[in-house]
Amino acid sequence: MRDGIRVAAPCKINFHLCVMDRRNDGFHNLESVFQALSFGDELRFESLKDRFVCDLRMPGSVPPEQNIVQKAVTLFREQTRFDRGLRITVEKRIPLGAGLGGGSSNGAATLWALDKMAGTELPERVLRGMAEKLGSDVPFFLSGATAFVGGRGEIVEPLDLSFGPLWVVLVNPAIHSDTKRAFSLLDASREGKRKPASLPLGKDTLEKALREKPSRWPFFNDFLPVLVQFSEEAVSGLYRRCLEDLRSIGADFVSLSGSGSTCFGVFDDQKRAEGAVAKLSETWNFVRLTFPLARKGFTVVE
Ligand code: C5P
Repeated sequence: MRDGIRVAAPCKINFHLCVMDRRNDGFHNLESVFQALSFGDELRFESLKDRFVCDLRMPGSVPPEQNIVQKAVTLFREQTRFDRGLRITVEKRIPLGAGLGGGSSNGAATLWALDKMAGTELPERVLRGMAEKLGSDVPFFLSGATAFVGGRGEIVEPLDLSFGPLWVVLVNPAIHSDTKRAFSLLDASREGKRKPASLPLGKDTLEKALREKPSRWPFFNDFLPVLVQFSEEAVSGLYRRCLEDLRSIGADFVSLSGSGSTCFGVFDDQKRAEGAVAKLSETWNFVRLTFPLARKGFTVVE
């Protein structure tokens, strides 16, 4: 049992995101490469005397019952006998509706931290089961680092890669992207053109490609052309400009994370990445220089 713990909850990007068929349960099968980054939120968990209380302190306007941190606490209490009162303070840095998995990371960090605080030491499969209930992207964050992700997100196969130093520049074009809506837009675009779902590249190809220079990556994100073409004009324009800015500044690989809205550029040279951040910050409000995390799981902040 521990009285308190502080956890770093990283964001993620999708180096690759192929959306395949729509399943009977309404979810889509994916083939993706998820990568946790050095940028993220911080969650502080403290014990309170009153049993079952959960005092959640987090900036923003998400109602408590819809907050994934609150949902994770409720789920954990239901599945264990953990009844201790809690104060949870979230230092929020990851923008919402940005495709960076901020909510999912917070949810996974909460399950992980409560397991430590309660001293329950739940088997990984039990934590994963809870994570799946919280959302499609949540299981990834229990493993972290670089992972091949399949199914609707529940298949997570960590990849042991030691690719050379890379820098990732995140640019958010101040668009709030709704995941459900983005999937509907994708479905509609496919139905209209009778275009089949994308063909996956296969895990072996993805893994091999990750060892190549980013300028040679064959990765794509199926949401990207759809959001650029079929969003309202103002939104399309923002995506176009953001992606073009990243390309023209010399990023080795440019793509979109998740179902939007954050665009990113991968650089294999630190100086070029730093130069890009300085230049892009003249136009865009949210620009961050980050790097891929190599360490799996969550980090306790001392
Ligand atoms: O699981 P999560 O709550 O993050 O999913 C939000 C929405 O995104 C789902 O309701 C579904 O419409 C869509 N989704 C999907 N296929 C996935 C993940 C999410 O269609 N693999």
